[in-house]
Amino acid sequence: MTVAIEYVIGRAGLAAVRALDRDVIGQAHRPRGAAGSVNGWVFAHRPSNRQRNRWVASLLEVGPGDRVLEVGFGPGIAVAELVRNGAGHVYGIDHSGVMLRQASRRNAAAIRAGRVTLINASADRLPAALAGPFDAILAVNSLGFWPAPVERLADLRGRLAPGGRIAIASQPRCAGATAATSRDAAEEVENLLRSAGFTQPSTRTLALSPPVICVLAIAPDPDDTPQTLTTAPSRRVGPTAG
Ligand SMILES: C[S@@+](CC[C@H](N)C(=O)[O-])C[C@H]1O[C@@H](n2cnc3c(N)ncnc32)[C@H](O)[C@@H]1O
Repeated sequence: MTVAIEYVIGRAGLAAVRALDRDVIGQAHRPRGAAGSVNGWVFAHRPSNRQRNRWVASLLEVGPGDRVLEVGFGPGIAVAELVRNGAGHVYGIDHSGVMLRQASRRNAAAIRAGRVTLINASADRLPAALAGPFDAILAVNSLGFWPAPVERLADLRGRLAPGGRIAIASQPRCAGATAATSRDAAEEVENLLRSAGFTQPSTRTLALSPPVICVLAIAPDPDDTPQTLTTAPSRRVGPTAG
């Protein structure tokens, strides 16, 4: 094979890989159609995804009276886990209709029992029905896709009861992600949460490859603390495809 032909094939291969990469990220951002269903199946069955979601749900230590909101529930693994852990009522939004259908099937019994409400909505336009107050809010590998994350987080803070907790988890899925990538993501999430008015951010780590980080923080009582929305730091939490 001539060098010229190798070069052309190499370029075409690279373009195909890049197109595939874009598609994988796009599907993780908002799974659609048949490919979206396959993606949802992968999210639901990949052992690291299941472990990640169960771990984050456990960190919130929910109790029987707790009202919990998940943003970007995907196939609904964390929702099911929160119900199993005894949460009073779990609400969830996801802007993907495909994910709504999968999560609804997975949690059908809890929905029938009046313990779960899942809504097709975007983080940037939360339905009035989700005014709260919630005791806990979580997002697992979803925040990296939100536009204007500080504003979204500040909005969520306003829907938490004073002292309510938030858990933002990320397992970087970009090519070549390492423990250092996870550490950078944790630092960025902590900064985003502080900028959005949350207090006491602290990071937990689950030793997968790459590690999962989950930043927990508290919504202060608005009567106690002056709330100012500060400028967002530069963004490094990249898209987290699954
Ligand atoms: C990578 S998947 C993770 C799904 C699930 N949390 C998990 O860990 O299995 C990201 C999910 O966030 C949802 N999502 C992304 N941006 C969103 C937004 N702005 N509003 C609502 N959902 C969003 C996507 O539709 C997708 O279901």
